[in-house]
Amino acid sequence: MAHKLTPFITAEEIRERLDVLGREIAASYEGDGPLVCVCVLKGAFLFFSDIIRRIDKDIEVDFVRLASYGNASSRSEDIVFSKDMEIPVEGKDVLIIEDIVDTGHSMDFLVHVLKRRNPKSLKICAFIDKHERREVGITVDFAGFKLNKGFIVGYGLDYAERYRELDGVYELSTESL
Ligand code: IMP
Ligand code: MG
Repeated sequence: MAHKLTPFITAEEIRERLDVLGREIAASYEGDGPLVCVCVLKGAFLFFSDIIRRIDKDIEVDFVRLASYGNASSRSEDIVFSKDMEIPVEGKDVLIIEDIVDTGHSMDFLVHVLKRRNPKSLKICAFIDKHERREVGITVDFAGFKLNKGFIVGYGLDYAERYRELDGVYELSTESL
């Protein structure tokens, strides 16, 4: 089925914004310790690969994947790892890199679990901060773009596993869902 896609953020706008964001992230960390960047699969994979190359610091990369069971509007209690991290994070600066923080429940789960592992610091970087729908007290430390409402695809983001490969971001019109 074809959906109606309306251009929302171009590939060039993404590149320009990420140049600034990468510098901002690097500037916020002092000291020589490595920064552990945690990619939240699958949606963040393109954003992750682009932003870590713009953070002028020693970086260690790792990946997590979350799964929710129960109903669609998943709460943090219904979320589990389907893939956990492999790098120990105790005493290290950790930056979670996510595609979108929407209600905040997925990030709430991740932050709680990783905090128990005693990192030196734990911050959140999201390509899109959909702040108006937040249901839990999660603050995005570094946001690529902000979005009030709407459903977007492209640049890693999917609708039913489609459109992740697009190099820009598009709004998917709801009439066609
Ligand atoms: P939440 O913050 O727990 O509500 O979940 C956020 C997750 O929902 C994101 O990591 C995305 O995987 C997905 N999501 C939320 N809004 C969108 C969207 O507009 N497009 C694609 N995925 C979305
Ligand atoms: Mg996600």
